[in-house]
Amino acid sequence: MLSLALLACLIFILLSGRATVAQPVLAAHRASGSPSRSLRTLAADRGLFIGAAVAVKPLQEEPAYGATLAREFNMLTPENVMKFSLIHPGRDRYNFAPADTLMAFARTHAMQVRGHTLVWHRQIPNWLKSAAADDFPTLLQNHITTVVGHYRGQIAAWDVVNEAIADDTSLRNSLWLQTMGANYIDLAFRWAHAADPSARLYYNDYSAEDMGAKADAVYALVQGLLQRNVPIHGVGLQMHVSLDWFPNPSEVAANVRRLVNLGLAVDITELDVRLQEPALASDRVLQGRVYRQLVAACLEGGGCQATALWGFTDRHSWVPAFFPGWGSALIFDQDYRPKPAYYSLQGLFTQKSS
Ligand code: XIL
Repeated sequence: MLSLALLACLIFILLSGRATVAQPVLAAHRASGSPSRSLRTLAADRGLFIGAAVAVKPLQEEPAYGATLAREFNMLTPENVMKFSLIHPGRDRYNFAPADTLMAFARTHAMQVRGHTLVWHRQIPNWLKSAAADDFPTLLQNHITTVVGHYRGQIAAWDVVNEAIADDTSLRNSLWLQTMGANYIDLAFRWAHAADPSARLYYNDYSAEDMGAKADAVYALVQGLLQRNVPIHGVGLQMHVSLDWFPNPSEVAANVRRLVNLGLAVDITELDVRLQEPALASDRVLQGRVYRQLVAACLEGGGCQATALWGFTDRHSWVPAFFPGWGSALIFDQDYRPKPAYYSLQGLFTQKSS
């Protein structure tokens, strides 16, 4: 009787996904016959980087956050603290301390850092919004020179310009375009390169992942930059997707390939796959497939030497606040337990290269 009850209890625990401590070990044994290996180890073995967007507060307050991050990732992106309004909150005032905390963590744990982001139409401080249009070139040059200079030699890649193309594929009518004209993009890259010649400089955008008008516009933009000898080294594909809508993997591969053929690196920079809440177990399995297919497509196209997720635990994700009703977008759950998407990426990085 007792053993029957015990068995039932075990089955319940297994089915309800509570026996997660044992899962990584089991999955790795199944996949490779060796003890569990972290994503960062598997990625590094293939010369790849796997990263996540990181917030400062949980890093300081939750030991499991830093432990998981350091164990599983060999790259990080500051989620917010390098953005204009946070790092440069007053005309003559910079606030480097929060970003410095992330840099120190990255150094301690031998992680690369993606700098994010120098020029964007969002998270701009009020002092800048009320500055005179004529001052913008100098203000932006000073901003880029100071921020990139502060981290000179320590940042592998910078998202120099973020989301400059609107959904209708025209240049976004941002404060930057209004005050400086289209040339602001060229200038931003040139200033960033002058401040840190060793950093790889990226143009980063969303909805430009598969073939389509917006991807064509990004292609034309970066092609123009290259023709004008602007120092650009890569394109970032954000990849914020959902189970209902995600880019066609073979088109992602083709799009990555044509950008690679321009001589650029192409990386996924902000991957998350949001689910409708409450998320079903079956959706979490499908989510894992989407994660794997998209990264595989990018690799197939010759990109994704570095892949970054926009967070790593559902406990801290921008999704619920920005997409009401949606969540569960990342590869660890609220309690830092790996989800099917974790094992999908593990499987991808374990797979024999073709
Ligand atoms: C988001 C952050 O995750 C949020 O915390 C913040 O409130 C808004 O910005 N594309 C980008 C990222 O390039 O910088 C955005 O990050 C998500 C969309």
